[in-house]
Amino acid sequence: MKSNNIPKLRIGDLEARIPIIQGGMSVGVSLSGLASAVANEGGIGIIGVSGIGMLEPDFAKNFREANKRALSQEIRKAKEATAGPIGVNFLVALTDYEELLLVAIEEKADLVCLGAGLPLMNPKTAAVDRLREGSTKVVTIVSSARAAKIIFTQWAKKYHHVPDAVVVEGPLAGGHLGFKKEQIEDPDYALEKLLPEVIAAIRPFEEPFGKSIPVIAAGGIYTGADIYKFMQLGASGVQMATRFAATWECDASPKFKEAYVKCRKEDIVIINSPVGLPGRAIRNKYLDEVSAGIKKPIKCPWRCLKTCDFTKAPYCIALALTNAKRGDLVEGFAFVGANAYRIDKIVSVKELMESLVEEYEEAKSKAIQSGSETLNDP
Ligand SMILES: Cc1cc2nc3c(=O)[nH]c(=O)nc-3n(C[C@H](O)[C@H](O)[C@H](O)COP(=O)(O)O)c2cc1C
Repeated sequence: MKSNNIPKLRIGDLEARIPIIQGGMSVGVSLSGLASAVANEGGIGIIGVSGIGMLEPDFAKNFREANKRALSQEIRKAKEATAGPIGVNFLVALTDYEELLLVAIEEKADLVCLGAGLPLMNPKTAAVDRLREGSTKVVTIVSSARAAKIIFTQWAKKYHHVPDAVVVEGPLAGGHLGFKKEQIEDPDYALEKLLPEVIAAIRPFEEPFGKSIPVIAAGGIYTGADIYKFMQLGASGVQMATRFAATWECDASPKFKEAYVKCRKEDIVIINSPVGLPGRAIRNKYLDEVSAGIKKPIKCPWRCLKTCDFTKAPYCIALALTNAKRGDLVEGFAFVGANAYRIDKIVSVKELMESLVEEYEEAKSKAIQSGSETLNDP
């Protein structure tokens, strides 16, 4: 890749040449293939951990072991394929979240991104001690300044330690959303508004903990000009997922990616997920049947999510998403970000990263020419 002026992303001593984190995508959409391709192009590649063991033969009998084994294998495979930074994305609502966190630390993941809940840990597992002592960085994913403040205050009090970076995920993101349905279209909750609020909420923790804490913007970021805009608003980088789902290297089946290329704006809908959060997905017959009250058969031997009551859930979200990842969009559905309808072809990660950098530079030159560039210049 030719040299460029886009600022690096630094999380402690971890450095990415291009300030883009590929958002973790479960179930099985971002594994070692996508994560290593992104890291090879200068970004940060993330493996999505939820349901990672579902493709193992013994998952139904022994889901905890299958998850641990699959996570270990995926981190190793990714690290063999790249020298760039590789992380793991966790939903803290997973019943085996802490066991899997220890696997990620053991396998020397460069970072762990903790989302969908308050990332507190059982002091007995000593995960925070191991994070503090080791090289794995902690990134917390939030959707409000309030959540960031609560997490940082609790960590400071309980662990005398705070996360190394924050991802602020706005309402245009894909997958589960940290908003009430009515907030999704409310301009008061737009990413442009949330980002400076989150930055202000975590600034007071930088001096006492002697570190700079980058804030990374996510949700609906589509072009290099968007990256430029959010970096001008104070972000140290961006997290993007939807664009990476439509790459050759993405670990989902071609049919899953085809659904991204084909979807129109009106096909992208907000659903009530059994996780207890709204989610954004491509509407299909499966989701129409769920909305019509048709209950899908559920066998739940493993209880993967603390927040899912499988006796009341209309379907198993882990199974529906795994089916979609495998290309079965009859017995499942695909999560997407709000801008997925703009995708018209599958590209390589290299092409995508190069176009994003080019667009960033164009936006920057335009801003310089018009005299509007202000903040955050490298
Ligand atoms: C298919 C898909 C699966 C996702 N799965 C997860 C996940 O398991 N954990 C998580 O924290 N976020 C998940 N997300 C959210 C992304 O990591 C990311 O933050 C968000 O989608 C960014 O917005 P964008 O897709 O518009 O770029 C998912 C998103 C998509 C599109």
